[in-house]
Amino acid sequence: MLNNKNIILVGACGLIGKEFSKSILENSGNLIIVDKDEDSLKSFFDTLTNKYPDKSISYFPLDITSKKSIIAVIQALTKKNQKIDAVVNSSYPKNKNFGRNFFDIDYEDFSENLSIHLGGYFLISQLFAKYFYENKIEGNIINISSIYGVIPPRFEIYRGTKLSNSIEYGAIKAGLIHLSKYIAKYLKGSKIRVNCISPGGILDNQPEAFLLNYKEFCLSKGMLLPEDLSGALIFLLSDSSKFINGQNIIVDDGFIL
Ligand SMILES: NC(=O)c1ccc[n+]([C@@H]2O[C@H](COP(=O)([O-])OP(=O)(O)OC[C@H]3O[C@@H](n4cnc5c(N)ncnc54)[C@H](O)[C@@H]3O)[C@@H](O)[C@H]2O)c1
Repeated sequence: MLNNKNIILVGACGLIGKEFSKSILENSGNLIIVDKDEDSLKSFFDTLTNKYPDKSISYFPLDITSKKSIIAVIQALTKKNQKIDAVVNSSYPKNKNFGRNFFDIDYEDFSENLSIHLGGYFLISQLFAKYFYENKIEGNIINISSIYGVIPPRFEIYRGTKLSNSIEYGAIKAGLIHLSKYIAKYLKGSKIRVNCISPGGILDNQPEAFLLNYKEFCLSKGMLLPEDLSGALIFLLSDSSKFINGQNIIVDDGFIL
């Protein structure tokens, strides 16, 4: 399906990134995993190479908020004559105060979270778009947004739990959808594609009360598993979606309807 395309996966060591890594390899993609967490990166690389000994897998530490570290990865691959076909960004930068309630968020934390998350996604998109553009590559950029970039939270599903949904997250994810459409349009005529996937909530040890509240709004399953996102990812990475550009694919079991 992916015909040995060279795909960089940012945030590969995360809940979604780990599953995306497997899907890319199992669909004939060559995988370059990158993440800020160097220890997890090395150990995940070892796990993948053991499980998929015949596949092309490499890894590089990368911080999406550091222009220097992004350029270092592009240069290292260029030096090896390895063309990059696609970059998928599934990283989740946040500072230590991320996720506070609306009245408790300091301006500094709001700004810092926007800067490292939305700003970091901007930087990845900008620098890879530049690489694709300057090398006349039909590049493919996929950003992971969220249903909370599309609708405001359903606050009632958090009642009776310690979970919450923060204002900076929605601002970041809505901004990311717009940013992706902006870049897609800015690059008109270049054959570079920029799309988003907006997942619904992913199962991750949430309390039972929350799972039941959440499921009330869904059409069949409720919270999803990371593997439920793989179909959308592989589709967007493949040539089947060659003329899909500037879109946001929502994978949420109907939660936002
Ligand atoms: N988990 C969900 O329910 C859910 C739902 C909708 C959307 N999303 C989105 O999907 C993406 C992935 O979510 P997840 O649950 O897998 O997150 P996660 O926290 O499990 O993993 C995120 C990964 O990003 C890496 N990372 C953090 N900061 C980084 C940086 N500055 N540079 C490079 N890597 C960095 C972390 O080391 C980690 O490996 C996020 O953008 C998130 O907003 C998640």
